[in-house]
Amino acid sequence: MAAEPYRLVHYLRFAFVFLFLLWVFVQFGGTGDNRNQYTTLFRKFRDQRAVFISDFLNHDVNGPFKGDGLADLCSDKKWTPGLLLTCDAVPGGVADVKNGILTCMRVAIEIGAEIILPEIKLRSTMDLSDITPHDSGPRRGEPLEHFFDRAYLLNTMGQYCPELKIHDSLNDFFDEPNVLTPVKLDLYKVPGVKIAANLPGSGGKLVLEGDRLGKQIMDMVDKKSPPKSRKYPFRIDMRPTPSYIMPSFADSPPLRKYFGRLLRVRPDLRALAAGMLFNIQKAFDLVIDPRQGIDVDAFVGVELRTQPDPLPFPPYAVQASDALSYVLANNMSQVYLTEGATDDDVSNFAERCRDFEVKVVTKDDLVEGPDVLALAKLSYDERFLVDYEITLHAGLFTGNAQSSFAWSVGLRREFAFGEPGAADSSHLNGTLRWHSPYSTLYGKQHIGDDFRRAVWP
Ligand SMILES: *[C@@H]1O[C@H](CO)[C@@H](O)[C@H](O)[C@H]1NC(C)=O
Ligand SMILES: *[C@@H]1O[C@H](CO)[C@@H](O)[C@H](O)[C@H]1NC(C)=O
Repeated sequence: MAAEPYRLVHYLRFAFVFLFLLWVFVQFGGTGDNRNQYTTLFRKFRDQRAVFISDFLNHDVNGPFKGDGLADLCSDKKWTPGLLLTCDAVPGGVADVKNGILTCMRVAIEIGAEIILPEIKLRSTMDLSDITPHDSGPRRGEPLEHFFDRAYLLNTMGQYCPELKIHDSLNDFFDEPNVLTPVKLDLYKVPGVKIAANLPGSGGKLVLEGDRLGKQIMDMVDKKSPPKSRKYPFRIDMRPTPSYIMPSFADSPPLRKYFGRLLRVRPDLRALAAGMLFNIQKAFDLVIDPRQGIDVDAFVGVELRTQPDPLPFPPYAVQASDALSYVLANNMSQVYLTEGATDDDVSNFAERCRDFEVKVVTKDDLVEGPDVLALAKLSYDERFLVDYEITLHAGLFTGNAQSSFAWSVGLRREFAFGEPGAADSSHLNGTLRWHSPYSTLYGKQHIGDDFRRAVWP
């Protein structure tokens, strides 16, 4: 019997909690204005770091995605149901992989095909300069979400280019034997395609007339498989998937500015970057608001490349002196150094900077708590994805023009924060390849010209 009063208290306690929750819901859970009135109040009380990270994740550096350029492009094309494009896995650094996947999507749009998104060919972990290890037969790789946010891509495409049907994998076609024998597509060998002259010192080769490419590809396909007797689904297999072949600079500005943003860095790496950016504030005694644009007086993002790489970079001494003179000429004293330099060169650079009272931090200086383990698990290229997010928020950025990463960051910053070109560089020393008010790339004439003209940042 003694249990009865106790049970009553127990029930009353539940009733209290329930009533309280109901009150909270009525007070704060309403939609619209009623709730907005309290978000500012809550913001003050929630953990600052959590607010910062959530602001970071909810605000892209140049505002929400604008899809009118993409929508115009897609609605202009003739789409063929059952025509399917597959593309070989894309090798290289994050900027190369991103542009390769975008190139595959762009070719699908140009020919009005459905698509299976390409995979990512991971570089060798033993030799960073080997970007296509064990390369025989069709390339196998990791799915796209290893680097990028697939849900964001699918949502955005669904909103602005619903014409492009995206399939998960070839398994969707298991009962279609036709699909096993695709027409092969090598973009460089399509009859009639004109390839731009290779500028001296520039690596890549670009299609000259991007707007004719779709028709040229389909003329070739129609020769191999006459449309009248063709059975669908019908697959075209692009192999290899070149990263820098489409003349993105010739796209309409609303398209060029936003197309690359379809591939957003995967959410856990963005959150990791946000936590580090939060700590940069403490390290450098700065205030950064991820909801706002950049503050040019904030830190300088610097990329030095001395790790093994398929491309030749200038020696450490040249890159380091370019970077340091850029920092000093801009009267800056705080540097975030990205991935890309050997451990020795990271120490050398930090030491040299110290002589000029310039402070250098890296990801390893900025992680804390559970993020330490998360960072330790990342590959060389995944670490660059974190750098991509952080350097977009730097006040200034510098790197070498041989680096596709540097172009990707530099161009995205230009599109985000300012009008092209027109920066006074008279205060800068060294061989300038490209500069904007917010970013400067060093290097000889023409270096990285294929990146400049083909990157969708
Ligand atoms: C630029 O070069 C001049 C001449 O060599 C030198 O006096 C000056 O200190 C350099 N400036 C920077 C920022 O490195
Ligand atoms: C750096 O500071 C010097 C001396 O105060 C000034 O003359 C120069 O214009 C500044 N440079 C920049 C790029 O702000």
